[in-house]
Amino acid sequence: MMEKIKRVLGIETSCDETGIAVYDGEKGLLANQLYSQVKLHADYGGVVPELASRDHVRKTVPLIQAALQEAKLSGKDIDAVAYTAGPGLVGALLVGATVGRALAFAWQVPAVPVHHMEGHLLSPMLENPAPSFPFIALLVSGGHTQLISVTAIGEYQLLGESVDDAAGEAFDKTAKLLDLDYPGGAMLSRLAEQGNAKRFIFPRPMTDRPGLDFSFSGLKTFAANTIHTNNNDDQTRADIARAFEDAVIDTLAIKCQRALDQSGLTRLVIAGGVSANRTLRLKLAEMMHQRGGEVFYARPEFCTDNGAMIAYAGWVRLKMNAGTENDLSIAVRPRWPLSELSVL
Ligand code: KG4
Ligand code: ZN
Repeated sequence: MMEKIKRVLGIETSCDETGIAVYDGEKGLLANQLYSQVKLHADYGGVVPELASRDHVRKTVPLIQAALQEAKLSGKDIDAVAYTAGPGLVGALLVGATVGRALAFAWQVPAVPVHHMEGHLLSPMLENPAPSFPFIALLVSGGHTQLISVTAIGEYQLLGESVDDAAGEAFDKTAKLLDLDYPGGAMLSRLAEQGNAKRFIFPRPMTDRPGLDFSFSGLKTFAANTIHTNNNDDQTRADIARAFEDAVIDTLAIKCQRALDQSGLTRLVIAGGVSANRTLRLKLAEMMHQRGGEVFYARPEFCTDNGAMIAYAGWVRLKMNAGTENDLSIAVRPRWPLSELSVL
């Protein structure tokens, strides 16, 4: 039966992006549609959950129609529907889950609940060359910073994670202090390009002790103090952005290095919104080159939230004959540790 699963429709609505894609096991990605709610939330300085849910209600079905049109397919050509079932905002998740399960029921095809972070983790596999197992994965998004040892699909051992803010969250909070709009991660990085790396040196948190956990909330406080004790002119803001970005990236690189040393692995995968960061990609590429290993990451639009990674993760799970749900209940998991994901 599973040989018949060729084309998977993927639905991502866990936060502030509506992402819809069609992945074909033979031909690859056939369609990828994205609607970002960034403008809607910018005035509030963060995502407003109720507004996010309502906007997903408005956009999900039209984007599915657009994706089918882009792929030159109709509903009857779809073999399965994958949707993000967690972690994320409960109302937002419920929109994608409800639409996904309803379509799967109407089309009489399997529905596949996908873990959002597994989607991120597998997204570099949409690229060529794709990483092969085993590898160390650094997941860096707005909600998570995790180092994971990956031996196979579904075999994810958590090695370390942030004890407070996620890397993306720290970028966004520091960007706000620098008067950049939400979400400011990418803008902070652009500002940092104009900065002088030698003017301010920020700490590299938790690198002076053993272990693979992270802590980023102190860096934001360090940035706030530096802002208050200096002129807030354009050059100073750029210098602070540079010092902050260098500190985060250095810290991530040190911990990746440690995880690779401990595990003896030679492949590193980086995924999640912060993995779109050019300086981080360059730094880790250089580090892996020096170690004689390799680094893998997705194109920038597959690093931040998107439907392609959900369609792909759904296809992988179906191929391995795991994780479909055919009853009529609709359940999402706003909190869902990757370690609780069913192993195949
Ligand atoms: O994976 P993602 O789209 O959503 C979550 O699952 O959280 O990640 C969004 C995060 C935001 O914090 C955003 O500021 C950050 O990724 N981000 C960046 C860059 N692009 C996105 N951070 C640093 N540099 C970037 N270029
Ligand atoms: Zn994400």
